[in-house]
Amino acid sequence: MAMSSVLLCNGCTSWQGLLLTASLLTCWHVSTSTAHVTIESVPPHVVEGENVLLLVRNLPENIISLVWFKDLKIIRSAIGLYNVRYNVSAPGRLHSGRETMYRNGSLLLRNVTAKDTGYYILRTLNRHVDIVSTTVTHLLVHKYVMQPFLQISDTTVAVQKSVSLICISPHTDNSFHWIFNNQSLQITERMTLSPTKHSLRIDPVRIEDAGEYQCEVSNPVSSKTSLPVRLTVMKE
Ligand SMILES: *[C@@H]1O[C@H](CO)[C@@H](O)[C@H](O)[C@H]1NC(C)=O
Ligand SMILES: *[C@@H]1O[C@H](CO)[C@@H](O)[C@H](O)[C@H]1NC(C)=O
Ligand SMILES: *[C@@H]1O[C@H](CO)[C@@H](O)[C@H](O)[C@H]1NC(C)=O
Ligand SMILES: *[C@@H]1O[C@H](CO)[C@@H](O)[C@H](O)[C@H]1NC(C)=O
Repeated sequence: MAMSSVLLCNGCTSWQGLLLTASLLTCWHVSTSTAHVTIESVPPHVVEGENVLLLVRNLPENIISLVWFKDLKIIRSAIGLYNVRYNVSAPGRLHSGRETMYRNGSLLLRNVTAKDTGYYILRTLNRHVDIVSTTVTHLLVHKYVMQPFLQISDTTVAVQKSVSLICISPHTDNSFHWIFNNQSLQITERMTLSPTKHSLRIDPVRIEDAGEYQCEVSNPVSSKTSLPVRLTVMKE
């Protein structure tokens, strides 16, 4: 069966097996199209459990079908195909039942999870099954951060000694901020932050370091502050 008839047939329900055939691999050559298809995530920051629309703009004219893929192993990772001429869609190998493809190219993902993070690729094809455009976008699904826990090496420290504070959080890719007496901590030359800022060392400690410390963990969709930890500084 010629690929064009597969892609054009009405009521196709299964086509992903055919994607593995050599005929497809040979006929899918990248054309020198100047189309500038864009993909925008709506909303821009996506949280687990919510829906996201990968909104497609500037779809080329005269295309016959659209194929969405997940991740860069193109051939084996199809989410679905949409035949624009006949308004029929067919799910691909990676279709989970939560995806909807629209005639205008946009892809709706419902109830996303962290596993939906990754590259999404939209290809458009003309009647000769030539690739008219290939557009790649990266989707990052955030989780709401959990409250961090602040651990201190010693709650009572003598001046000139040192103290270490560690902000414990299961989130590794988020940003950490330090709070002292309800204000943003002023980092002095006696303080050392780890490169990820999740740990703080004060050496040597001075009287003015006594007070309440907190750490805050945030990502683009949420932030949480630890319970305060009190540091007492003894003069001798
Ligand atoms: C596909 O949908 C478009 C827009 O809704 C419509 O104009 C067109 O007639 C439809 N084509 C078929 C074959 O149903
Ligand atoms: C494409 O269709 C979807 C669903 O109807 C809609 O939400 C989206 O705004 C449309 N995209 C464009 C670019 O019109
Ligand atoms: C969303 O997905 C989670 C699992 O990832 C599931 O437990 C939950 O029931 C789903 N919610 C809806 C509204 O489908
Ligand atoms: C920080 O703010 C909380 C709540 O407003 C208050 O109870 C606490 O006393 C403050 N701590 C300091 C050191 O100012």
